[in-house]
Amino acid sequence: MNNSRPRYPPGIGRGGGGYIQQNPNFHSRSPHQPQYAQRNVAQNQHQQWMRRAAATDGSVDSDANNEVEKTIQPATVDSSSQDWKAKLKIPPPDTRYRTEDVTATKGNEFEDYFLKRELLMGIYEKGFERPSPIQEESIPIALTGSDILARAKNGTGKTAAFCIPALEKLDRDNNVIQVVIVVPTRELALQTSQVCKELGKHLRIQVMVTTGGTSLKDDIMRLYQPVHLLVGTPGRILDLAKKGVCVLKDCSMLIMDEADKLLSPEFQPSVEQLIRLLPENRQILMYSATFPVTVKEFKDKYLRKPFIINLMDELTLKGITQYYAFVEERQKVHCLNTLFSKLQINQSIIFCNSVNRVELLAKKITELGYSCFYIHAKMLQDHRNRVFHDFRNGACRNLVCTDLFTRGIDIQAVNVVINFDFPRNSETYLHRVGRSGRFGHLGLAVNLITYEDRFNLYKMEQELGTEIKQIPPQIDQAIYCL
Ligand SMILES: Nc1ncnc2c1ncn2[C@@H]1O[C@H](COP(=O)(O)OP(=O)(O)OP(=O)(O)O)[C@@H](O)[C@H]1O
Ligand SMILES: [Mg+2]
Repeated sequence: MNNSRPRYPPGIGRGGGGYIQQNPNFHSRSPHQPQYAQRNVAQNQHQQWMRRAAATDGSVDSDANNEVEKTIQPATVDSSSQDWKAKLKIPPPDTRYRTEDVTATKGNEFEDYFLKRELLMGIYEKGFERPSPIQEESIPIALTGSDILARAKNGTGKTAAFCIPALEKLDRDNNVIQVVIVVPTRELALQTSQVCKELGKHLRIQVMVTTGGTSLKDDIMRLYQPVHLLVGTPGRILDLAKKGVCVLKDCSMLIMDEADKLLSPEFQPSVEQLIRLLPENRQILMYSATFPVTVKEFKDKYLRKPFIINLMDELTLKGITQYYAFVEERQKVHCLNTLFSKLQINQSIIFCNSVNRVELLAKKITELGYSCFYIHAKMLQDHRNRVFHDFRNGACRNLVCTDLFTRGIDIQAVNVVINFDFPRNSETYLHRVGRSGRFGHLGLAVNLITYEDRFNLYKMEQELGTEIKQIPPQIDQAIYCL
């Protein structure tokens, strides 16, 4: 690891690696009305999403961290008053167009689930008006205590689908860890703990995030304080549990987000050891947009009469237009330059297949005169956190990264994903392109395809049942809709 690397590649001209506003098309949300479609009866019958499996079936960068901590504020609204809803600080509605991936609901309301009023307050103050399809299916079942294996498309609200029942079940007077959420990357852990803190803002519960790359000692100190909900990466949680500081004997709920990734060889042993530390009456909830067959074995071994929720009658998001451009390796940067000049990029994520290529490309993009940050797992955690935090806040238009950012990362302003290097498997492809088009919004994915990639492109189209079209010469006109 080269610790002396600059945090961002040097910027061109003004402001070093900071954001240089070169593209006048930077825009935020476009004015369309959200469209909440009710699932009609025929559709409902057709979509028997949920079936019970047969019994035999089975900061830290200080800034970023401070920001996370600051979100726990005392409740400002009296939850017992009659007009509690009128007093909430609800953000302005997101009026962008949304696809059926999130609007095809049964028409439930969050109030239908008899949640604590303080939790409802957090939900509404986060700007959620009503549950998305996966939330409609998952929240009531999770509340009953059943194990769940749930599959739903990228960006359709899986996080709240498990956070809401987890928060509802927490007893704030019982100062023990009651829920653990495990995720595969540190950035996703930070993001998820932030969601828990925001949704649980009025619940007066303690959420702690713990990941590798931060001081173990600090985490140990924090665990001496009450913690109700722990979010983290498997290795660090296990470390703390083995030291006896993280006590899981009263933790009755384990949530595995990006569950299939957590079952890859690098994580599965730690996850299994964690499960063994849980009490007998534990509930396990598993979520992802992809469940390769390998997940079945784990499900059969550890989940008890799980509810299987599968909302993926198709795999790719309706809002994402996918293109490929056939190029030679040496033309890729030139092609990217053309894309930058033609596309209306709000924010973009550009994926490369190695750490080296991320750094080289980030340098090239900067030399071309476009602002960009980069992030990969070989950077110091402090730097990673700052890049994540600043990119999320719109400090820079483009982010070059490895697959570190492929899973779960939710940045609403990202409308373009570019696979500078084509991914090696279809799961990775799906998660990468799912970084744009969040919560049913429109997005664009462009794949730079070399001669060597051509079979892989075909294979992915087959496996995902989707069409990746050749990019039209008039791309700027073809994607006017973004
Ligand atoms: N009910 C809701 N109403 C409005 N926005 C919502 C709702 N639920 C979730 N969102 C927003 O949708 C976005 C995507 O949610 P989330 O990150 O949970 O998706 P996901 O299904 O976990 O995606 P991925 O598979 O990529 O991890 C977030 O910005 C979240 O705040
Ligand atoms: Mg997610």
